Amino acid sequence: MNTTWSTYVQNINTLYSSRSIRFADEFKEKYIKAFDIVDKNKILEIGCGPGALAESLHSWYPNAKVYGIDTDSNFIAFARKNITGTQFLEADATALPFEDNSFDVTISYTVSEHIEPSKFYGEQYRVLKENGVCIVISARKGVNITASCIAEETNFEKEIWQRAGEYFVDFQKKYDVCQYPQNEAELPLSMREHGFKSISTEYITINLTPDNPCYTADMAYAMINANRLCALDSAERLLHVAGEKITAPEVAELKRIINAKYDKRIMLYNKGIKIWDTDLSVTMVIRGEK
Ligand SMILES: C[S@@+](CC[C@H](N)C(=O)[O-])C[C@H]1O[C@@H](n2cnc3c(N)ncnc32)[C@H](O)[C@@H]1O
Repeated sequence: MNTTWSTYVQNINTLYSSRSIRFADEFKEKYIKAFDIVDKNKILEIGCGPGALAESLHSWYPNAKVYGIDTDSNFIAFARKNITGTQFLEADATALPFEDNSFDVTISYTVSEHIEPSKFYGEQYRVLKENGVCIVISARKGVNITASCIAEETNFEKEIWQRAGEYFVDFQKKYDVCQYPQNEAELPLSMREHGFKSISTEYITINLTPDNPCYTADMAYAMINANRLCALDSAERLLHVAGEKITAPEVAELKRIINAKYDKRIMLYNKGIKIWDTDLSVTMVIRGEK
């Protein structure tokens, strides 16, 4: 049972809600164009987390069989329980439990930076069929403007985060996170170095601005509430990461404050008061063939 990532790094809600928005049908055409895999029918997602991308892949490519693997037991249990039509397996990307030449596509989102590249690409190369497609999706810098009703911190919040601060020193090293970051030039070079050919890159912008009239109210609520869930998860994680310094009642109070802030943001939206807070993410898609 391995639950390190879901306990200390990113909880289920954080990943599932933020990814479900980024891989929502509103943005489907952008991804379909960049992936260019319409004729492929066996897809493996590496490091699928709680399964939001696999869920969208299953819906976007109904003729394909979609598999997802991740080392975190909580993520796989959640995905199995909540997502139908897709197979999820607890497995390590550096030792995939699949035969050589058995998949048409391997795909991953925000995973390459966490796994040593020769193992990350080597295993995908092995399980891909001849001319199979390897897709690496990587989140790049974007634009992030938080509504002031959310950004402004109470003294209580400031004090809690300050107290927990020392636990976040060397956080990435402690939990083996982001030990292999690569920039926009290194990513395609690395894919080439590990045997793939016909490499191309694409950039997709996902504009998450609740006040933008192109979005329905449901989508706007989903954007605001995805951020709410991430913030609540961050508070909850304090009990695991900094449990000696932060008490359960303090976390409960922190969560109450977070909920009040996001309720206020929703109230402003409902009243038609525009804030124009935004989360514009730039997503890089690197595509290569075996
Ligand atoms: C940033 S999260 C992204 C999860 C998912 N792709 C998403 O966007 O929701 C990185 C994921 O990689 C998984 N992971 C890290 N190392 C792994 C490995 N060696 N094999 C399989 N999964 C791994 C973690 O458990 C985590 O779920």
